[in-house]
Amino acid sequence: MDKVKKHFQEEADVFDARVLKAVPFYNDMLEALVSTIPCAPEQKIKVVDLGCGTGSISKKIKEHYPNAVITCVDFADNMLKIAQDKLAHYKDIDYVLCDCRDFDFSSGYDAILSSLTLHHVREQREKKDFYKKIFAGLNDNGVFYAADLVLGSNDYLQKLNLEKWGEFLARSLSKEEIMEMKGRYDEEDHPFRLMDEISWLKETGFLTIDVVWKYYHFAVYGGEK
Ligand SMILES: C[S@@+](CC[C@H](N)C(=O)[O-])C[C@H]1O[C@@H](n2cnc3c(N)ncnc32)[C@H](O)[C@@H]1O
Repeated sequence: MDKVKKHFQEEADVFDARVLKAVPFYNDMLEALVSTIPCAPEQKIKVVDLGCGTGSISKKIKEHYPNAVITCVDFADNMLKIAQDKLAHYKDIDYVLCDCRDFDFSSGYDAILSSLTLHHVREQREKKDFYKKIFAGLNDNGVFYAADLVLGSNDYLQKLNLEKWGEFLARSLSKEEIMEMKGRYDEEDHPFRLMDEISWLKETGFLTIDVVWKYYHFAVYGGEK
């Protein structure tokens, strides 16, 4: 995890430009993520943005839910600083510098969202435990959704996922940049099969679980308490 933290600490300044080249349809994916909040736009909902990075998800939340009270959580303070600048003119946003697995969810949330972060949790046991913590932190009818990397259900589908991702990367990155990105993927990223994620959410007690968006290696999935 230290390596992941160091990587985001060092690359905070270039993150926003790079993510558009690294993640297919990044903006559509974030729109899909934020659209899962089943509330009226004027409601004063309480939301956590886990691994908020430079604040793009929270910005979208505020655009759709201007009265939302948001807690942005990230363990890389350089990312959190950019989020603070990006969101400076919005009120009711708190910034918490910590590992999201140590975050105290006890005040109760209507929505817990996370984008491109939870694939850094390496172990299945740890992920399941974290889902339990998230579930406990939701108010009744609250929702948890993640936008994240996922594995295909068999080798053929996983190969297809990687090929399609590679095709996307080749549109705007050099061969060297792609090699570097894939090297980092092998070392730092630990996605699980989407279908396993779904079954862990079910085991945790989530209801109306769904996948609201998917493009090969990337999906938006979650459920309701
Ligand atoms: C790929 S970036 C995604 C940022 C943002 N959610 C987005 O989609 O634009 C992942 C972010 O999660 C943070 N992160 C990764 N693991 C974390 C953890 N265990 N606790 C807190 N932050 C974490 C990193 O510091 C980084 O800012």
